[in-house]
Amino acid sequence: MIPVAANSPEQAVIDRVSEIADLVTVALDQLLPRGDGPEVRLTEAMRYAALGPGKRLRPFFAIEAGRMMGADEQAVLRAACALECVHAYSLVHDDLPAMDNDDVRRGRPTLHIAYDEATAILAGDALQTAAFDIVLDEDTHPSAEIRCELARRLSYASGARGMAGGQMIDLLGVRDDLGGMARMQRLKTGALFVYAFEIPLIITRAGDDAWNALSNFANDVGLAYQIIDDVLDAEGSAEEMGKAAGGKDAALGKTNFVTLLGVEAARQRVTHLADQARSHLDMFGEDAELLKASVDFVLRRRS
Ligand code: IPE
Ligand code: IPE
Ligand code: MG
Ligand code: MG
Ligand code: MG
Repeated sequence: MIPVAANSPEQAVIDRVSEIADLVTVALDQLLPRGDGPEVRLTEAMRYAALGPGKRLRPFFAIEAGRMMGADEQAVLRAACALECVHAYSLVHDDLPAMDNDDVRRGRPTLHIAYDEATAILAGDALQTAAFDIVLDEDTHPSAEIRCELARRLSYASGARGMAGGQMIDLLGVRDDLGGMARMQRLKTGALFVYAFEIPLIITRAGDDAWNALSNFANDVGLAYQIIDDVLDAEGSAEEMGKAAGGKDAALGKTNFVTLLGVEAARQRVTHLADQARSHLDMFGEDAELLKASVDFVLRRRS
């Protein structure tokens, strides 16, 4: 990691990301079910997947955008935990032998290796339903209308027109041009990134201008994030990333942004997307400084 000057905008982002990651891990620990019969194997597997050392980037975006917009903190935190449960479930299923068949995630054995395949399938299922339990609980927000909207948009972002649909396209391999690749990414990775910003937008009942600005920001950052994931798949070390790398996608004959564009052009696209993303936040003035500074931090990741 490149050292950063104390009190620099970069340091402010690092501190805030780590503060939010801790907050979310503690909240998730309280929110996730604990079994007491033989099903304790399932609740432990859910905890293994959700409480492991993830970066908690989607909750970071939800909570930091929430601070910028003055959204109720408790409501945003709970919805952000729900989002992280869906994300954790998507990774558990993504790693299964029927999908990417990966043995390592977040520097540890994947769930089906640590437990078994059937438990991993069930833990993914139950993490997904836990997410809806969390957002729909009255503790999330006094307004049933807001709770329903949080659940409705989460279901959209996770399902056939979001993450699951994108995973289907990825498995089918029907994306041999950039347009098809960008569409797949918008569903597979982008939709859950967009939902992170929808959380405070819904909770503050924001107007169209804020919706447009933050959705555009999320789409650009989400796309850039997946491009970097593909660059790291090609160039990163599995050790540093805590998951498979070393050209795994290419070796499997999978097209991704790097196999299509090459590393240099992929990186240029990321730089362009980062500039474009920041410009979408101009309407929020100084309050958006930390979010703007977070773009480079998120995209400079090595893991
Ligand atoms: C991994 O997501 C899957 C992609 C969409 C690239 P993250 O990079 O956010 O993974 P964790 O949660 O930090 O492990
Ligand atoms: C999958 O993308 C992202 C989702 C789980 C929706 P990848 O398959 O590239 O993610 P990693 O590289 O395994 O984290
Ligand atoms: Mg995959
Ligand atoms: Mg994968
Ligand atoms: Mg990947």
